[in-house]
Order: sequence, then C-alpha cells, then structure tokens
Amino acid sequence: MFIGLDLGTSSLKAILIDGSDRVLAEHSVPLSVQRLHDGWSEQSPKSWCDAARDALRALAGKHDCKGVQGIGLSGHMHGATLVGADGRALRPCLLWNDTRAHAEAAAMDADPQFRKITGNIVFPGFTAPKVEWVRRNEADVFVKTKKILLPKDYLRLYLTGEYVSEMSDAAGTSWLDTGARDWSDDLLSACHLTRDHMPRLVEGSAVSGTLRADLGLPQVPVAGGAGDNAAAAIGAGCVKDGAAFLSLGTSGVLFAANAGYRPDPDSAVHSFCHAVPHTWHQMGVILAATDALNWLSGLTGRSVVDLTADLGPLRKPGKPLFLPYLGGERTPHNDARIRGQFLNLDHATDARAAARAVMEGVAYAFADCRDALASTGTQIPRALAMGGGAKSEYWLRTLATVLRFPLDLPAQGEFGAALGAARLGRMAATGEGPEIATPPVVDRSFDPEAGMIDAFTEGHARYRRAYQLLKDF
Ligand code: XUL
Repeated sequence: MFIGLDLGTSSLKAILIDGSDRVLAEHSVPLSVQRLHDGWSEQSPKSWCDAARDALRALAGKHDCKGVQGIGLSGHMHGATLVGADGRALRPCLLWNDTRAHAEAAAMDADPQFRKITGNIVFPGFTAPKVEWVRRNEADVFVKTKKILLPKDYLRLYLTGEYVSEMSDAAGTSWLDTGARDWSDDLLSACHLTRDHMPRLVEGSAVSGTLRADLGLPQVPVAGGAGDNAAAAIGAGCVKDGAAFLSLGTSGVLFAANAGYRPDPDSAVHSFCHAVPHTWHQMGVILAATDALNWLSGLTGRSVVDLTADLGPLRKPGKPLFLPYLGGERTPHNDARIRGQFLNLDHATDARAAARAVMEGVAYAFADCRDALASTGTQIPRALAMGGGAKSEYWLRTLATVLRFPLDLPAQGEFGAALGAARLGRMAATGEGPEIATPPVVDRSFDPEAGMIDAFTEGHARYRRAYQLLKDF
C-alpha cells in the first residue's frame, strides 16, 4: 500500500492505494486562502501540517495502514515559504497566484541570465520575485530566513524533519538550472541568497526522508514527489513525449510531456523538469479556470452546478465576451496588471448566458496556450481532461471545438495529483520506474464539432483583439 498527499489550494487530499492503484481510503481537509489586498494571495503553512496530520489520522481510521510501504507528496507550486532557524514559517506563504511581486519579477526578467539558465520568464507568481518582495518590504523577515521552501516541501519538513525539494517543483522557483537539474549559484547570488538557503534536491521518484514516528503510521520512505502538475501527469500516465492533459482546476493548465529539454521563454510557455529522471515537460498556464466560474457564482448567488447544468448541445459563441484575467495572466501575456473583462452585454444577458461566456473565455485562454506550445514545436494530438471543471460536458465540448483536438474524459476514479504522488511514493519505496505511470481508462471522448469550428475560431480572434484593445486601459 502507498499513500499520496496532495496539497491543493483549497484542500489537502490524502489517498491510500494498493499495488493495483485501487483507492482503499481517502480523506480531504479544506484549506483557506487569505487575500488581504488586490493581487495578494496567502496561506498559513501551519494549516498544511495540521491538515496532513488530520488526513493521515483519518486514513488510518478508515483502513488498516500497517502495510503502507511508501508515501509521495504533491503540492501547489511556486509558493514562497520563508523558514527561520527553528524550522517554522516566519510569515504566511505567498502563493502561486499572488502577483504583488510584478515589479520585482520584471526587474529580474530584464536580467538575461534568468531566462537563459531557468528556460522560463520570471513570472510574478514564481518564488524568487516574491522573496525579493519580502526582502524589500519585510527586511526583518528576510534577515531571519534560513531556508526557503516550496509548500509541499514545508509539509515534508513536518513529516520527515528533512529540508529537501525535487526537480519539478524547484523548476518553478527561478533559481534552478532546469537543463542541468541543479540550483544555480549565479541566480541565487543575484537574489542575495546562497545554496545554504535552498533545500537539498532529489528526483521526484527518489527517497527524500523517512516518515516521523509519531504520526501513527509505519516509518516508511517519503518520495521527493512533485509539483501538482507533474504529479497529475504521473497520475494520468503523461510521461512519454507528446502525451498531454488539460486541467480545469482553480488555474488552468495545458501540459505536454517532453523527452528532452525544450525551453522557449519568449512564448511564455513554462518549461520544467518532470518528476522522473531525464524527462521534462512544458505547460501553458492560465490563472483562472474554475476560479472564473466560482467568481460568477459568488456574484450571481447561484451555484456553479446551477449555472452550468443542462446547457444542451453546443451553441455558437454568444454575444457576451469574457476575458478571465481576474488576477492577471501568465501564458501567453505575462501580464500581472490586466484584469477580467465582460464585454458586449445586453438586456438578454442573464446569468446562464454569462456562464457560457465565462466557459468560452476560458476555452479561448486555453487556445492561446495551445498556440504558445505550438510556437515551440509542440503539437498536441489529443489530451486527457482533468480537474473539477471537467464535470461540465458543455465546457468539454466547447474546449474540444475551440482547441481543435479531442479531449478524453477518464472513467470515474483516481487519476490526478494524489495518485501521481502515491505512485512516486511507490517508485521510491520499490525502485520501480515510470512504467507504473499508466493512463486511466477513458470513459468518453469529446471531438471538435466540425460545424462550429469556424465560429469559435472567429470567437478566439475576437478575444485576442479584445486583449490588445484593453491591455493598457
Ligand atoms: C503552475 C501553477 C499552478 C499551481 C497551482 O505553474 O502555478 O498550476 O501549481 O495548482
């Protein structure tokens, strides 16, 4: 048996699987995000540890865990957790969707060594610019900082007492030499840091430490694990070159596995290490996917299910146009200042028409990611559809037609980041390799609807024009 712990933005999920990937028990604990000012997004690191302790206890209550052999971790990426000499977080973690450090990010990005060494733009949500913001605005915290940890690596510190990170998550800090899979001393020094501030690096499928004795579970190896997207890819069997998934979570991700390292920062595509050795991956990332529907739900007082159920067969794009940039955007614009837009409303625009516009707008944002990946030479023939938003058939039909490739919806069951984490735990404990990362059974495929492609291609062009008109507004 193996345990996967996935630290998500809105909840921590723990699953217990057997050697055939069957889920024997699972438990989730909700987490909250604090947004003190526009563009800020923070979370309490202690809440992750409390949630993990409660989730592990709950698992052990639901199933006998004596036979557990290994544990893997997954977590939301890029968060800056500044840790003091006593191993405790000095302030709340600045999360992946916190864009306050846009000026610091722009200054770092203007220094050519960052793109050259990391293979990526320095986005405001990445770890390095957020730490620079702390250095400039909370100097007392910065001087006390002994280690800087990514969220799931802080959880690892709690679970094992070890300061360790792994390649896939480290690639999202702006301090990793992504091709060499090692910290860059030059980039650390450009940020007033040294290697001593960094955790030790292992591969995601390697052992990072041993579970503490007082958690009610056997003292088994804890794997390096992965950032949530690379972990989801291990859960979904996306390891071989060209294998892809589209994730409709809080954020939206179009992910493609790569056999080699193929950076192209100018496209605003993320080029990161994968969770298993000698592999990399690319992704286009949009900051609000289901988050945009949640926002509309809050505004209208109607549940997302109510807004999106029974929308019937796919209809041509409606008149209202929605740009989902509620907290800025990464791919393809790298624009922390842009905000969401609703255009072309009329008397007939009711809540459900607005919901369709939101789903169409997010689909156009994904089309921008497809085009950004294509500009690096990565063509996606088809993709698995994952995340909470994949429950909406209407959204999947819209997406397949806008993207012009089929989307495969996995059959009910576990195939996401928690499974990926558990599989990495298994690799670390048994020495098995990526061959155990098999794809899920597909329940249904959504093909592009030929008669609608032109209308949605035109809709995408309109969407792109709207951004150009409004970006300096
Ligand atoms: C990826 C990214 C998000 C977070 C949260 O670059 O920022 O996908 O990992 O899920």
